[in-house]
Amino acid sequence: MTTYFEGYQRKSRLMMRLTLRVLAARLHAHSTSSTSMAYSAKIGPSILSSDLSCLGSECVRMMECGADYLHLDVMDGHFVPNLTFGHPMVECLRKSVGQDPFFDMHMMVSRPEQWVKPMAAAGANQYTFHLEATTNPGNLIKEIRESGMKVGLAIKPGTTVEELAPWANQIDMALVMTVEPGFGGQKFMEDMMPKVSWLRSQFPSLDIEVDGGVGPDTIHKCAEAGANMIVSGSAVIGSDDPRSVIALLRTVVAEAIQKRSLDR
Ligand code: DX5
Ligand code: ZN
Repeated sequence: MTTYFEGYQRKSRLMMRLTLRVLAARLHAHSTSSTSMAYSAKIGPSILSSDLSCLGSECVRMMECGADYLHLDVMDGHFVPNLTFGHPMVECLRKSVGQDPFFDMHMMVSRPEQWVKPMAAAGANQYTFHLEATTNPGNLIKEIRESGMKVGLAIKPGTTVEELAPWANQIDMALVMTVEPGFGGQKFMEDMMPKVSWLRSQFPSLDIEVDGGVGPDTIHKCAEAGANMIVSGSAVIGSDDPRSVIALLRTVVAEAIQKRSLDR
């Protein structure tokens, strides 16, 4: 025969189990919502600032220092007033560094259509072209995808983010330039941050990259605005301790992502 006391004990055990189950479900929901952000903090050194006579070993050094990807600046002396390298160099780099490092090609070139296939064949992973350089972004996006690369779309400081918006759902990454493209070592343009914030609010899972003058002094602004892919040239490569700079940049961005996910 069940006594009153035994009945009471069974009931409270049941209640306890139920409460624990609800708590576990809440914890699970919380943990999945805070880790389910579609984007993560990634740091891509711009190797333009390195000793270009040893590009292969510089790329390897950056990967060893914790880089998530490599940002390779292609300039044609026409779209921007500077000249760097093209797909033959990328092909050699790929052979030298192996299959692993992700190559984000920042194509500061007029007529970006003409280099899609050669860059894909050379081993590029992502083809980031400038909106200002083409009259048919839709077709170019399609060609890049058909070539097996990811699609990045960049805008110069003078281009509004509303001009990029119609393509945002078709691309993998939006690049908001924080200097006039052409040279490393320029001053960060903080007034570009509203573009990043607006993009983050409209496209919560899009990869958003910033490029130009980004380093330990300016990373907080970028991270708060919502950028998650961080290009850094002189601040990383010019440092005596690139590993620490990369780690610091990543931590600031990861914390901002975490905070945003908790605020949702
Ligand atoms: C500028 C390039 C950048 C540049 C960044 O046109 O697109 O990638 O190398 O260098 P820092 O970080 O020194 O501004
Ligand atoms: Zn760049």
